[in-house]
Amino acid sequence: MASKIVLVSAIILFVLNHALAENKTELAGYRSKGQLGKWHGVRAKINVWPINDVLYLSRSSAYIAVHNGAEQIAAGVHVYPEMYKDYNLRFFTYWTAGDGAKRGCYNLDCPGFVLADGTNLHPGNSLYPLSDIFLGMRYITLRIKKDENTGDWSLYREDKGGPIGGMTLVGWWPKTLFNGLVDSGNEIEWTGSVFYPSDETPPTMGSSLFPKMLEGGAAHFYDCYGFDTAGSIYKDDYQPYPVVTKPECYNVSLWYDTGSPGYKHFFYGGRCPDPEPPSV
Ligand SMILES: *[C@@H]1O[C@H](CO)[C@@H](O)[C@H](O)[C@H]1NC(C)=O
Ligand SMILES: *[C@@H]1O[C@H](CO)[C@@H](O)[C@H](O)[C@H]1NC(C)=O
Repeated sequence: MASKIVLVSAIILFVLNHALAENKTELAGYRSKGQLGKWHGVRAKINVWPINDVLYLSRSSAYIAVHNGAEQIAAGVHVYPEMYKDYNLRFFTYWTAGDGAKRGCYNLDCPGFVLADGTNLHPGNSLYPLSDIFLGMRYITLRIKKDENTGDWSLYREDKGGPIGGMTLVGWWPKTLFNGLVDSGNEIEWTGSVFYPSDETPPTMGSSLFPKMLEGGAAHFYDCYGFDTAGSIYKDDYQPYPVVTKPECYNVSLWYDTGSPGYKHFFYGGRCPDPEPPSV
């Protein structure tokens, strides 16, 4: 009897603790307003890594996004056990346009993102093979671009070829979902992110290696660029600014030229140092 009470109280305490634990989000990436603060898209070759230490209520992701105020469209990869009931690295899409019906969602969990016929990639798909320090780097290349005819925001996958200039149309976000994003984005980003309850160990971001490892195995965003309002690759100064919220755990490298005009890359990621053992 007594042990039952102890057990029940322990469960209640556990649930309460989790309910009360604050959720934290940490970011390590770059954002750009460009010179005009007007964007018609963003693109990157995203390095994909297995992330094996994401606890059940935590998440780890890497994505590109277009913003206009509170409105946002994004696509990338994440490990999100609470949503998928597994620890796979999965492709995701996301949008939000404010509150209420415009709150948006991941993938196809609410009306909004429209899946294209014949796409070789569905929101929520697991990705494999993934990068391996010994076997080499793997990527998924994603492009969010405003369709200059319809005004909708299209999402393309580039790394598996396809009928549209070597790309496949995955789907689109209709412009009718948005107010500000009807015209253009005012900011674009390439970002690694982790989410965790403050009572869980924060997960790894990227490959777990710090960006100073560079080609030594740190995760990276390669061939990053934005699209200007003519739909062309933006070649001017991106004036990128790093968004790094916990640099002792997750950081970014400098913003490098890739070689082609307008193409950029950087390394990102890391993990939190092991806590100091308690002193006796
Ligand atoms: C933390 O996030 C979880 C979803 O993962 C949610 O159920 C919970 O309510 C959040 N906690 C707080 C304090 O916001
Ligand atoms: C984060 O990276 C920058 C270079 O990109 C470096 O100057 C800084 O010292 C790093 N911060 C930490 C805490 O490692």
